[in-house]
Amino acid sequence: MSRRYLMCRPTHFAVDYTINPWMDPTAPVDVERAVAQWTTLYELYLSLGHTVDLIDPVPGLPDMVFAANGATVVDGKVYGAQFRHPERADEGPAYLSWFARNGFDVHAAKNVNEGEGDLLLAGEVILAGTGLRTEHAAHLEAQELFGRPVISLQLVDPRYYHLDTALTVLSHDNIAYYPGAFSPGSQEVLRRLYPDAVVATAEDAAVLGLNAVSDGDRVVLPSAATALAGALASKGFQPVPVDVSELHKAGGGPKCCTLEVRGMTGPERSEEG
Ligand code: ARG
Repeated sequence: MSRRYLMCRPTHFAVDYTINPWMDPTAPVDVERAVAQWTTLYELYLSLGHTVDLIDPVPGLPDMVFAANGATVVDGKVYGAQFRHPERADEGPAYLSWFARNGFDVHAAKNVNEGEGDLLLAGEVILAGTGLRTEHAAHLEAQELFGRPVISLQLVDPRYYHLDTALTVLSHDNIAYYPGAFSPGSQEVLRRLYPDAVVATAEDAAVLGLNAVSDGDRVVLPSAATALAGALASKGFQPVPVDVSELHKAGGGPKCCTLEVRGMTGPERSEEG
Protein backbone atom coordinates (compact mmCIF):
# COMPACT_ATOMS: atom_id res chain seq x y z
CA MET A 1 0.00 0.00 0.00
CA SER A 2 1.23 3.49 -0.84
CA ARG A 3 2.28 5.67 2.09
CA ARG A 4 3.23 9.28 2.70
CA TYR A 5 6.44 10.03 4.55
CA LEU A 6 8.34 13.09 5.77
CA MET A 7 12.14 13.01 5.67
CA CYS A 8 15.04 15.39 6.42
CA ARG A 9 18.30 15.26 4.45
CA PRO A 10 21.30 14.76 6.81
CA THR A 11 23.12 17.87 5.52
CA HIS A 12 24.24 18.76 9.07
CA PHE A 13 24.67 15.19 10.31
CA ALA A 14 27.27 14.66 13.07
CA VAL A 15 27.83 12.76 16.27
CA ASP A 16 28.80 15.62 18.59
CA TYR A 17 27.16 14.41 21.80
CA THR A 18 26.12 11.14 23.42
CA ILE A 19 22.45 10.62 24.24
CA ASN A 20 22.31 6.91 23.48
CA PRO A 21 24.90 4.11 23.84
CA TRP A 22 25.55 3.95 20.08
CA MET A 23 26.88 7.51 19.85
CA ASP A 24 30.66 7.93 20.12
CA PRO A 25 31.74 11.52 19.38
CA THR A 26 35.38 10.40 19.07
CA ALA A 27 34.59 8.09 16.12
CA PRO A 28 34.74 9.72 12.67
CA VAL A 29 31.51 10.39 10.79
CA ASP A 30 31.36 10.69 7.00
CA VAL A 31 28.61 13.21 6.22
CA GLU A 32 28.80 12.60 2.48
CA ARG A 33 28.30 8.88 3.03
CA ALA A 34 25.39 9.58 5.39
CA VAL A 35 23.77 11.76 2.72
CA ALA A 36 24.36 9.07 0.08
CA GLN A 37 22.78 6.35 2.24
CA TRP A 38 19.86 8.62 3.09
CA THR A 39 19.38 9.46 -0.61
CA THR A 40 19.25 5.76 -1.46
CA LEU A 41 16.54 5.31 1.18
CA TYR A 42 14.60 8.33 -0.14
CA GLU A 43 14.77 7.06 -3.72
CA LEU A 44 13.82 3.57 -2.60
CA TYR A 45 10.57 4.91 -1.12
CA LEU A 46 9.79 6.72 -4.38
CA SER A 47 10.49 3.57 -6.36
CA LEU A 48 8.12 1.64 -4.07
CA GLY A 49 5.39 4.12 -5.01
CA HIS A 50 5.36 6.17 -1.80
CA THR A 51 5.12 9.95 -1.51
CA VAL A 52 7.97 11.64 0.37
CA ASP A 53 7.85 15.23 1.64
CA LEU A 54 11.04 16.95 2.73
CA ILE A 55 11.66 19.34 5.60
CA ASP A 56 14.65 21.71 5.47
CA PRO A 57 17.50 20.59 7.74
CA VAL A 58 18.47 23.16 10.41
CA PRO A 59 22.18 23.85 11.07
CA GLY A 60 23.22 22.84 14.59
CA LEU A 61 20.64 20.03 14.80
CA PRO A 62 22.68 16.97 13.74
CA ASP A 63 19.95 14.48 14.74
CA MET A 64 17.22 16.23 12.74
CA VAL A 65 17.64 13.57 10.04
CA PHE A 66 15.72 11.29 12.42
CA ALA A 67 12.36 12.61 11.29
CA ALA A 68 10.43 9.85 13.07
CA ASN A 69 11.09 11.68 16.32
CA GLY A 70 9.68 14.99 15.06
CA ALA A 71 5.98 14.31 15.66
CA THR A 72 3.22 11.68 15.57
CA VAL A 73 0.63 12.05 12.82
CA VAL A 74 -2.62 10.09 12.89
CA ASP A 75 -5.88 10.95 11.10
CA GLY A 76 -4.37 14.26 9.96
CA LYS A 77 -3.76 15.34 13.58
CA VAL A 78 -0.22 16.19 14.57
CA TYR A 79 0.99 15.60 18.13
CA GLY A 80 4.21 17.58 18.50
CA ALA A 81 7.39 16.16 19.96
CA GLN A 82 8.99 17.44 23.14
CA PHE A 83 12.50 16.06 23.37
CA ARG A 84 14.06 14.69 26.54
CA HIS A 85 17.54 16.04 25.82
CA PRO A 86 18.27 19.75 25.35
CA GLU A 87 20.53 18.93 22.37
CA ARG A 88 17.42 18.00 20.35
CA ALA A 89 14.92 20.44 21.88
CA ASP A 90 14.71 22.76 18.86
CA GLU A 91 13.68 19.94 16.54
CA GLY A 92 10.17 19.78 18.05
CA PRO A 93 9.14 23.33 17.03
CA ALA A 94 10.88 22.96 13.63
CA TYR A 95 8.76 19.93 12.76
CA LEU A 96 5.57 21.37 14.24
CA SER A 97 5.95 24.52 12.19
CA TRP A 98 6.41 22.46 8.99
CA PHE A 99 3.09 20.76 9.70
CA ALA A 100 1.39 24.08 10.53
CA ARG A 101 2.68 25.63 7.28
CA ASN A 102 1.34 22.64 5.37
CA GLY A 103 -2.16 23.00 6.76
CA PHE A 104 -2.25 20.26 9.39
CA ASP A 105 -4.13 20.34 12.69
CA VAL A 106 -1.15 20.76 15.06
CA HIS A 107 -1.02 20.20 18.82
CA ALA A 108 2.02 21.13 20.91
CA ALA A 109 2.81 18.51 23.57
CA LYS A 110 2.58 19.10 27.30
CA ASN A 111 4.74 16.07 28.09
CA VAL A 112 8.08 14.68 26.97
CA ASN A 113 7.62 12.48 23.93
CA GLU A 114 9.85 11.70 20.97
CA GLY A 115 7.23 11.28 18.28
CA GLU A 116 7.07 8.06 16.34
CA GLY A 117 10.26 6.97 18.03
CA ASP A 118 7.96 5.86 20.88
CA LEU A 119 4.39 6.13 19.50
CA LEU A 120 3.63 3.58 16.79
CA LEU A 121 0.22 3.20 15.18
CA ALA A 122 -0.65 -0.49 14.86
CA GLY A 123 -4.07 -0.94 13.26
CA GLU A 124 -6.54 0.83 15.57
CA VAL A 125 -4.23 1.11 18.55
CA ILE A 126 -1.06 2.98 19.41
CA LEU A 127 1.84 1.01 20.87
CA ALA A 128 3.80 3.37 23.09
CA GLY A 129 7.23 3.06 24.66
CA THR A 130 8.28 4.61 27.95
CA GLY A 131 11.07 4.24 30.49
CA LEU A 132 13.94 5.79 28.55
CA ARG A 133 12.70 8.80 26.54
CA THR A 134 8.93 9.34 26.30
CA GLU A 135 7.04 9.97 29.56
CA HIS A 136 4.03 7.87 30.46
CA ALA A 137 1.96 11.07 30.74
CA ALA A 138 2.50 11.59 27.01
CA HIS A 139 0.78 8.26 26.34
CA LEU A 140 -2.36 9.60 28.01
CA GLU A 141 -2.04 12.84 26.10
CA ALA A 142 -1.80 10.94 22.81
CA GLN A 143 -4.79 8.76 23.74
CA GLU A 144 -6.92 11.85 24.39
CA LEU A 145 -5.81 13.60 21.22
CA PHE A 146 -6.18 10.67 18.85
CA GLY A 147 -9.06 8.88 20.58
CA ARG A 148 -7.32 5.58 20.12
CA PRO A 149 -6.30 3.09 22.79
CA VAL A 150 -2.67 3.51 23.78
CA ILE A 151 -0.85 0.44 25.05
CA SER A 152 2.07 1.39 27.27
CA LEU A 153 5.20 -0.72 27.01
CA GLN A 154 8.21 -0.48 29.35
CA LEU A 155 11.60 -0.30 27.66
CA VAL A 156 14.42 -1.53 29.89
CA ASP A 157 17.61 -1.66 27.77
CA PRO A 158 19.37 1.68 27.06
CA ARG A 159 20.53 0.38 23.66
CA TYR A 160 16.86 0.22 22.67
CA TYR A 161 15.97 3.70 23.90
CA HIS A 162 13.02 4.21 21.54
CA LEU A 163 10.22 1.73 20.87
CA ASP A 164 11.09 1.84 17.16
CA THR A 165 14.52 0.38 17.90
CA ALA A 166 12.91 -2.75 19.42
CA LEU A 167 9.61 -3.19 17.59
CA THR A 168 8.40 -2.88 13.99
CA VAL A 169 4.75 -2.58 13.06
CA LEU A 170 4.45 -4.93 10.08
CA SER A 171 0.75 -4.69 9.31
CA HIS A 172 -2.51 -3.70 11.03
CA ASP A 173 -2.37 -6.88 13.10
CA ASN A 174 1.22 -8.01 13.33
CA ILE A 175 4.59 -6.84 14.59
CA ALA A 176 8.21 -7.92 14.88
CA TYR A 177 10.01 -7.27 18.18
CA TYR A 178 12.95 -8.10 20.38
CA PRO A 179 11.63 -9.32 23.76
CA GLY A 180 14.85 -8.47 25.65
CA ALA A 181 14.21 -4.75 25.21
CA PHE A 182 10.98 -4.94 27.27
CA SER A 183 10.08 -5.51 30.92
CA PRO A 184 8.64 -8.98 31.73
CA GLY A 185 5.10 -7.58 31.96
CA SER A 186 5.39 -5.79 28.63
CA GLN A 187 6.76 -8.95 27.01
CA GLU A 188 3.64 -10.73 28.22
CA VAL A 189 1.41 -7.97 26.82
CA LEU A 190 3.07 -8.34 23.42
CA ARG A 191 2.74 -12.13 23.50
CA ARG A 192 -0.98 -11.83 24.27
CA LEU A 193 -1.69 -9.23 21.61
CA TYR A 194 0.53 -10.69 18.89
CA PRO A 195 0.79 -14.48 19.27
CA ASP A 196 1.95 -14.68 15.64
CA ALA A 197 4.64 -11.96 15.90
CA VAL A 198 8.08 -12.24 14.34
CA VAL A 199 10.41 -12.57 17.34
CA ALA A 200 13.79 -11.06 16.50
CA THR A 201 17.10 -12.42 17.77
CA ALA A 202 19.56 -10.47 19.92
CA GLU A 203 21.82 -10.22 16.83
CA ASP A 204 19.04 -8.69 14.71
CA ALA A 205 18.27 -6.22 17.48
CA ALA A 206 21.94 -5.26 17.93
CA VAL A 207 22.22 -4.08 14.32
CA LEU A 208 19.02 -2.08 14.88
CA GLY A 209 17.25 -4.45 12.51
CA LEU A 210 13.89 -3.63 14.06
CA ASN A 211 14.25 -0.01 13.03
CA ALA A 212 12.33 -0.94 9.91
CA VAL A 213 9.52 0.53 7.81
CA SER A 214 6.68 -1.67 6.59
CA ASP A 215 3.96 -0.69 4.14
CA GLY A 216 2.05 -3.83 4.99
CA ASP A 217 3.85 -5.93 2.37
CA ARG A 218 7.38 -4.64 1.88
CA VAL A 219 9.65 -4.11 4.87
CA VAL A 220 12.63 -1.75 4.47
CA LEU A 221 15.22 -2.83 7.03
CA PRO A 222 18.97 -2.50 7.72
CA SER A 223 20.89 -4.90 5.49
CA ALA A 224 22.86 -6.20 8.49
CA ALA A 225 19.68 -7.81 9.91
CA THR A 226 19.92 -10.95 7.80
CA ALA A 227 18.13 -13.40 10.13
CA LEU A 228 15.24 -10.96 10.53
CA ALA A 229 14.95 -10.60 6.75
CA GLY A 230 14.61 -14.38 6.49
CA ALA A 231 12.03 -14.53 9.30
CA LEU A 232 9.97 -11.79 7.61
CA ALA A 233 10.08 -13.57 4.27
CA SER A 234 8.86 -16.78 5.88
CA LYS A 235 5.80 -14.88 7.18
CA GLY A 236 5.00 -13.61 3.69
CA PHE A 237 6.57 -10.14 3.91
CA GLN A 238 9.05 -8.90 1.35
CA PRO A 239 12.28 -7.72 3.03
CA VAL A 240 13.96 -4.75 1.31
CA PRO A 241 17.47 -4.33 2.79
CA VAL A 242 19.26 -0.95 2.86
CA ASP A 243 22.73 0.02 4.07
CA VAL A 244 22.38 2.65 6.79
CA SER A 245 25.72 2.02 8.51
CA GLU A 246 26.69 5.70 8.70
CA LEU A 247 23.40 6.73 10.33
CA HIS A 248 23.78 3.81 12.73
CA LYS A 249 26.66 5.75 14.32
CA ALA A 250 24.02 8.09 15.81
CA GLY A 251 21.86 5.13 16.83
CA GLY A 252 19.49 5.37 13.88
CA GLY A 253 18.18 3.32 10.99
CA PRO A 254 15.57 3.50 8.21
CA LYS A 255 12.59 3.99 10.53
CA CYS A 256 14.29 6.80 12.46
CA CYS A 257 14.67 8.66 9.16
CA THR A 258 11.02 8.25 8.26
CA LEU A 259 7.99 9.98 9.77
CA GLU A 260 4.70 8.61 8.49
CA VAL A 261 2.13 11.27 7.59
CA ARG A 262 -1.28 9.69 7.95
CA GLY A 263 -4.80 10.51 7.08
CA MET A 264 -4.73 13.78 5.23
CA THR A 265 -4.95 13.90 1.48
CA GLY A 266 -4.99 17.71 1.66
CA PRO A 267 -2.06 19.97 0.85
CA GLU A 268 0.11 19.78 -2.21
CA ARG A 269 3.40 18.00 -1.81
CA SER A 270 6.02 20.35 -0.36
CA GLU A 271 9.31 20.79 -2.19
CA GLU A 272 11.34 22.14 0.72
CA GLY A 273 14.79 20.69 1.22
N1 ARG B 1 20.79 10.20 18.09
C1 ARG B 1 19.35 10.12 18.10
C2 ARG B 1 18.86 10.04 19.52
O1 ARG B 1 19.47 9.38 20.31
C3 ARG B 1 18.87 8.96 17.31
C4 ARG B 1 17.41 8.94 17.12
C5 ARG B 1 16.94 7.78 16.34
N2 ARG B 1 15.56 7.83 16.09
C6 ARG B 1 14.66 6.86 16.32
N3 ARG B 1 13.46 7.02 15.86
N4 ARG B 1 14.95 5.82 17.03
O2 ARG B 1 17.86 10.65 19.88
